[in-house]
Amino acid sequence: MKTVTLPGDETVPALGLGTWRMGESKRTRSAEVDAVRLALELGYRLIDTAEMYGEGGAEEVIGEALASGPVRREQVFLVSKVYPHNASRKGTIAACERSLVRLRTDWIDLYLLHWRGAVPLAETVEAFETLRAQGKIRRWGVSNFDLADLQELWSTDDGAQCTANQVYYSASQRGIEFDLLPWQRRHGVATMAYCPIDQGALARNGALAAIARARGATAAQVALAWVLRQPDVIAIPKAVQPAHLRDNFAAAAMTLSAAELAQIDAAFPPPARKRPLHMS
Ligand SMILES: NC(=O)c1ccc[n+]([C@@H]2O[C@H](COP(=O)([O-])OP(=O)(O)OC[C@H]3O[C@@H](n4cnc5c(N)ncnc54)[C@H](OP(=O)(O)O)[C@@H]3O)[C@@H](O)[C@H]2O)c1
Repeated sequence: MKTVTLPGDETVPALGLGTWRMGESKRTRSAEVDAVRLALELGYRLIDTAEMYGEGGAEEVIGEALASGPVRREQVFLVSKVYPHNASRKGTIAACERSLVRLRTDWIDLYLLHWRGAVPLAETVEAFETLRAQGKIRRWGVSNFDLADLQELWSTDDGAQCTANQVYYSASQRGIEFDLLPWQRRHGVATMAYCPIDQGALARNGALAAIARARGATAAQVALAWVLRQPDVIAIPKAVQPAHLRDNFAAAAMTLSAAELAQIDAAFPPPARKRPLHMS
């Protein structure tokens, strides 16, 4: 598996599993636990979740799959997120402790502020650093932060300890390439690409399907290989269907040629000016 190097020289898999919309209903729960367990069997070693997903339900799905699954907890890099309205000095710590119970673990590898809210950034950073000192999280980061937000974060004490920014990034939503991605690269902040298949839409895209057909792959795989063409970008596609889980994992081993990349640029031109950060 291709890897991305985080500050401090830790490497993590470049492709992980997203879990948004898991844990929302009892009816689908066992299929979701099976999907996470299958992902672990296939070799996925990074899982993204949030207290928001299914209001804790997605974290419970992961906790159940990990407890009964084929790999040890320490082999998996777990990412979760705190709601902005919980991100106060005390609220962040309480939210993290609730997540740990649902995930059935003693630590979260990367804990993110889900998006910017009303709590001053300095307060959230202080809570993250406390959690880190207590060993409840190993690293922290942010999500849905545009350049100005990151610059403000960098002006707070310990703000530069931020490991990653998780943002919408796919061939069809590539605005971050203009300024955010280069800034993050210069400051050693990993980019986590959410919605890398544009919530399933790119699996049906004609331009990607044409490239995929010519090389015996699927359009979704081409979409993922495109996001993963860069050394510092982690993609976290969500999938429940076994075929999707398999295809997505295999996409991490694909390398697109210059000609294929040029075809994608023609269908989805790179940004020529600043665009507001796209969010889902
Ligand atoms: N930080 C944030 O604010 C934020 C926001 C949104 C998402 N996220 C994270 O990013 C993850 C990914 O985003 P997302 O779930 O919104 O969108 P996505 O990963 O781009 O797309 C997921 C959809 O694509 C389908 N799919 C997956 N693999 C496929 C394949 N190989 N072929 C065809 N269809 C495929 C899935 O179907 P099945 O499930 O039926 O297999 C699902 O409907 C989320 O789960 C979440 O962990 C974070």
